Amino acid sequence: MDLADLPSCRACALSETRQRVVVGSGPAASGLLVVGEAPGRHEDEGGEPFVGRSGQLLVRLISEELGLVRAQYFITNAVKCRPPHNRTPRVSEVASCRPWLETQIVALRPRWLLAVGNVAARAVFGFDDGISRTHGLVAHWGDVPGVATYHPAAALRGGPNVVDVMRADLRALRSLGI
Ligand code: URA
Repeated sequence: MDLADLPSCRACALSETRQRVVVGSGPAASGLLVVGEAPGRHEDEGGEPFVGRSGQLLVRLISEELGLVRAQYFITNAVKCRPPHNRTPRVSEVASCRPWLETQIVALRPRWLLAVGNVAARAVFGFDDGISRTHGLVAHWGDVPGVATYHPAAALRGGPNVVDVMRADLRALRSLGI
C-alpha cells in the first residue's frame, strides 16, 4: 500500500462523513510512535491528530513522564477518519484501516509504541482483553515493544486517578529505554 493514497481512501463508510483523513504527524524517524483511537471534531477539521483537549493532556503527560516534546515523536490513530458524533470506531472500521496502520509502522520503523485507549491497544497489540486489564503491560507489534494506556478522554471524564495510572503506564514505557 502506498501512503500517498491514504488521503483519498474509501475503504469504509467513514470516508462519506469525514472532512479530512488524519494521516498523522511527526518526524519520520522518531523512535516513539503514539497511536490513538480516531480523529475527533478538531482533528477532522484541521487534519492533525490530537489537537483537542484530550491531545493536549496526552502531550503534557508524555512531556512530563518521558521528557519528549510533541515534535519528537510521531502521532497517529488506529482509525484515520472521524466516526460520526465521535462514536467508538466499529471493529470493521478498525479492520479496514489496519493495513494503513501496518504500512505506517513498517515505514516509520519505531523503536517503541504507545497505544492510547482500548481501540488502539487492540489494534496495535492484538489484545483480546480490555484496557483495564492490558494497560501498563509490555507488549509487542512484531519485534517492536510498547505499552498501552488509557485514553486521555477517560482521564478528562474520570478524574485524577486515571491520570496517575496513565503516568505509571508511561513510566513502564520509559523503562524500555526511551
Ligand atoms: N482522540 C484520539 O484518539 N485521537 C485524536 O486524534 C484525537 C482525539
